[in-house]
Amino acid sequence: MQLRLVALEEGKDPGAGNRNGKVVPWRFLHYLLLFLVLGLGFSIISMNTLRYFGAQNQNGMPPVQGSNTIVWLEEPSGIESWIRPSKNLMHNMNDVELFWRASFVPQIKTYPYRRVPKIAFMFLTKGPLPFAPLWERFFKGNEGLYSIYMHSLPSYVADNPPTSVFYKRQIPSKVAEWGMMSMCDAERRLLANALLDLSNERFILLSESCIPVQNFTTAYSYISHSRYSFMGSFDENGPYGRGRYNPNMAPEVNLTEWRKGAQWFEVNRELAVAIIQDSKYYPKFKKFCRPACYVDEHYFPTMLSINFPRLMANRTLTWVDWSRGGAHPATFGKNDVSERFFKKIIEGTNCTYNDQPTTRCFLFARKFAPSALEPLLALASRVFGIH
Ligand SMILES: *[C@@H]1O[C@H](CO)[C@@H](O)[C@H](O)[C@H]1NC(C)=O
Ligand SMILES: *[C@@H]1O[C@H](CO)[C@@H](O)[C@H](O)[C@H]1NC(C)=O
Ligand SMILES: *[C@@H]1O[C@H](CO)[C@@H](O)[C@H](O)[C@H]1NC(C)=O
Ligand SMILES: *[C@@H]1O[C@H](CO)[C@@H](O)[C@H](O)[C@H]1NC(C)=O
Repeated sequence: MQLRLVALEEGKDPGAGNRNGKVVPWRFLHYLLLFLVLGLGFSIISMNTLRYFGAQNQNGMPPVQGSNTIVWLEEPSGIESWIRPSKNLMHNMNDVELFWRASFVPQIKTYPYRRVPKIAFMFLTKGPLPFAPLWERFFKGNEGLYSIYMHSLPSYVADNPPTSVFYKRQIPSKVAEWGMMSMCDAERRLLANALLDLSNERFILLSESCIPVQNFTTAYSYISHSRYSFMGSFDENGPYGRGRYNPNMAPEVNLTEWRKGAQWFEVNRELAVAIIQDSKYYPKFKKFCRPACYVDEHYFPTMLSINFPRLMANRTLTWVDWSRGGAHPATFGKNDVSERFFKKIIEGTNCTYNDQPTTRCFLFARKFAPSALEPLLALASRVFGIH
């Protein structure tokens, strides 16, 4: 009623209509209402679109391309959005692209935010992890202090439930063969993926037959307070040590610099970057260390001993039994596992930690058969302090 009156009054105004004082104002009002409704509709739609895409951006989704209206209304990003690791570990980068991206190192050494250093647990497996239930207990309650990466055969499809610490922690993987460069490539791929998370400070390589023999608190403290990185590295005479050296590796590697060590290492961020960026030693080892030279036992220990001798503990954190001889270490099953067995591993060896003698030398042990899982779960609390 009100509107109509106003319209009629406006109709009398010579400025509103010209030829027909009664028809034109009505049409004008029509258009006015139409524009009002359309305008309102558009703004509601665009607000919802903004809210929708805005929320997606916070989850790390790519921004919408070419939509200027959305870009200028987006909240300015803080440092968090530049340091937050991707929740989705899957990507389409090839190794060249991945290693390049992972080799970024900040030149300003002081972090402008509170950085809690994490340990990256990198599992190099063929398929499933038989000791997953024990590892779940190991990690429980320590969120924010670790991250997990799994490299397995490309054919293996992991089916961990969303409640598992291993859920969606697979990285893009390729076939890795024992004693071949493809094994080192897999280890480099694990390191590179883990380096993408700026919080990762220490990097541990583990296999499916590895178990923890200390709880997380002890392991975290032991590793983060160590001056050295735990990579086995020794100069061994005989056919399985210096005997595997090929003089064609000189001058990059001389016989006296040739080192051997088990594959299961722990390195800090500096060494991890050195490993993935290497292009000096890699071609030499690839070409001149082939079976019976097992490259995964020589490449990293030799290269790091040449370039970073002062960062190397020259011993590993993973206990293993070579006493039976042969090409493979002993595997322990259900009947081997006992409290006495682990007492020897946990405190029966002498070594040095930060240049001081100690009997706490190992945080992990291998190799265990899947049949050992039940007895291990039963003694974990009492013997390992894993509750
Ligand atoms: C290896 O030995 C040669 C000759 O003795 C020497 O010139 C070269 O610098 C050595 N290489 C390294 C990496 O030390
Ligand atoms: C490890 O070995 C290197 C030589 O390869 C040596 O310089 C370094 O001091 C050793 N590290 C420790 C902790 O003894
Ligand atoms: C470790 O060192 C202690 C003291 O030096 C010695 O009594 C013990 O026998 C050593 N243990 C081993 C396994 O060598
Ligand atoms: C971890 O193990 C140590 C003994 O090795 C024990 O003193 C400590 O209470 C355990 N920590 C947790 C959180 O269970």
